[in-house]
Amino acid sequence: MEETKKRMISGIKPTGHLTLGNYIGAIKQFIKYQDDYELLVFIADLHALTLPIDPKELRQNTKDLISVYLACGLDPEKVVLFKQSDVHEHAELGYIMACNSNMGELSRMTQYKDKTQKISNKESIPTGIFIYPALMAADILLYDADYVPVGIDQKQHVELTRDLAIRFNSHYSDTFKVPEPVINKQGAKIASLSAPEKKMSKSESDKGTIYLLEDLNVIRKKIMSAVTDLGHEIIYDPENKPGVSNLLVIKSSLSGIAISDLEKKYEGMGYGEFKRDVADTVCEHLKGLQDKVREIQSSGAIDKILADGAAKASYLASKKLNKVYRKVGLRANK
Ligand code: TYM
Repeated sequence: MEETKKRMISGIKPTGHLTLGNYIGAIKQFIKYQDDYELLVFIADLHALTLPIDPKELRQNTKDLISVYLACGLDPEKVVLFKQSDVHEHAELGYIMACNSNMGELSRMTQYKDKTQKISNKESIPTGIFIYPALMAADILLYDADYVPVGIDQKQHVELTRDLAIRFNSHYSDTFKVPEPVINKQGAKIASLSAPEKKMSKSESDKGTIYLLEDLNVIRKKIMSAVTDLGHEIIYDPENKPGVSNLLVIKSSLSGIAISDLEKKYEGMGYGEFKRDVADTVCEHLKGLQDKVREIQSSGAIDKILADGAAKASYLASKKLNKVYRKVGLRANK
C-alpha cells in the first residue's frame, strides 16, 4: 500500500518584485519537495494589502509570481497552486485566529517591529500589519499541514502558528495539526549585496537586491559592486566575511557545488574574478527563468491553473472551517 504523503504548505506575498532571496530561501525548497510531499503553494495576496499597494502593481506582481512559480518548475499536476483571495476561508479563519491571539504575542513579532520601526507616527501603523501573523496562521492551519518550508525570517510566525494551534486545541478540543517550519540548511537568509549584515529584501535597498525579473546587465553590475570584506581570501566565514560568504552561498545554491569545493576552486583568485564567476552563474540561471516567464505569460494558461488550484484548496479549507465554526459555537454541533 502506498504510504500517505505528509502535507506541506507555503506562500509568497506579491509585494514588490521577487528577489533571489525568495528564490533560494523558498521557491527552490518547493521544487525539491513537490515529488515527496503533498504540496500546496499559494500567492499570499491578502497579505500584500497589509501595507499600502497600488492595485495595478498588485495585479502585475500576482501575475509575475504565478509565472515564476511555474517557470521555476512547480508542476500544477503535482502541486496545488492557488491565490489566497480565491479561497475565502483564509480571511474567515484569519479572523478567528486574530480573536484567539493577543496584543502581547503579536507585538513581539520581529517582522512587525522591523516593518513599523520606520513609521514615525505610531498612531498611523496599519492594523493589517499587526494582525498579519494571525492570517498566516490561518493559511497554514486550514490545511492540516505537517510542514511549512520558509526562509529563516518567517520561522517566528510559524512558531506563533504552533502556539495558536495548541491553544485552540486545548480550549476547543483537537482541531488543528501543529505544523513545523522547514528551513534550508544553506540559503535560509540570503543577505543584501550592499549591506551583508541585512537580509536581501523586496523592500530594502535596490542595489543590494537582485530581482528575478530585472535586466541581466543590471544584475551583473550589482554583483560586481557587491560589498566584499577585508583580506583577500575566498572562504566561508559568515562572522568575519559576510559579503564573501553570501556570494559563496548564492553560487553554491544555484550551481549545486558544495561550498567546500568552491573554496578550493577559488583558492588564490582575486575578488574581481570571483564576482565575475558568481555573476555568470546568476545571469545564466536567471536568463533561463526570464525566458520561461515570458513564454508562460503569453501562453494564456495561468487563469485555468489558478482556478483548478483554488477549487482543490477550497475543498480542503471549507471542511476545516466548518469544523472550526462548529467548535466555537457559530454552527450547530452535530
Ligand atoms: P515573503 O513574501 O516575505 O517571503 C517569501 C518567502 O521567501 C523567504 N525569503 C528569504 N529567504 C532567504 N533569504 C532571503 N533574503 C529571503 N527573503 C524572503 C521567506 O522566508 C519566505 O519563505 N508571510 C510570508 C508569506 C506567507 C506564508 C504563509 C508563508 C503568508 N502566509 C503561510 C508560509 C506559510 C511572507 O511575507 O513571505
